[in-house]
Amino acid sequence: MIHELVRRTRTVRRFQEDRPFDPGLLRQLVDLARLGGSARNAQALKYMIITEEEVRRQLFPLLAWAGYLPHWPGPKPGERPSAYILCLLDTALQKGPESEAQFDLGIATQNLLLGAAEQGVFGCRIGAFVPAKVHDLLRLPEQFRVLLVLALGYPAETVVLEEVGKDGDIRYWHDGQGVHHVPKRRLEEILVPAPELGEPRR
Ligand SMILES: Cc1cc2nc3c(=O)[nH]c(=O)nc-3n(C[C@H](O)[C@H](O)[C@H](O)COP(=O)(O)O)c2cc1C
Repeated sequence: MIHELVRRTRTVRRFQEDRPFDPGLLRQLVDLARLGGSARNAQALKYMIITEEEVRRQLFPLLAWAGYLPHWPGPKPGERPSAYILCLLDTALQKGPESEAQFDLGIATQNLLLGAAEQGVFGCRIGAFVPAKVHDLLRLPEQFRVLLVLALGYPAETVVLEEVGKDGDIRYWHDGQGVHHVPKRRLEEILVPAPELGEPRR
């Protein structure tokens, strides 16, 4: 079950933009993020849910989509995200180095995206944006740093997992039908054998 859900939880970048979410769904997804592990249990991540059309319209051009598809300009109108969840670091709550919050962020967003996929909602983590511009647009207090933008919606594209080929190319691609293909390394390739250390030293 978890294996199937993890396989299905793919990055999606084209959405049924006008299809609304069930009321409360986005809050429930943030609740899954809230329950993730946290270094020092600092829980310094906070979230802003954005559904309002005008805010979405102004946020969209600040985000960079699919760097490996340079000829694809990103989702067109009608296929853009129906919502965004901004992942924020509340520096007033931060305890250790920022790298710790980045670990928390990975855990939190994976919880969120797994829960979303279970409901038929998919998304894209977007790390490529100019933080100051997003910060200004959303009138965030100084203490917040924008770490990641999650774009969300009901999917309007098919995504297929592939094996990384012999050439080692990990770039995703669109085929002639517009299907998105994502190469993943094979299990054998990522397993590093543990050494045999023989008798324990006395
Ligand atoms: C930390 C992080 C940042 C990412 N930033 C972007 C981004 O700025 N734009 C984008 O289109 N995709 C972004 N992605 C999505 C990746 O391209 C995607 O995860 C990768 O192609 C593998 O596809 P999968 O998520 O379906 O396994 C990001 C993913 C992660 C984990």
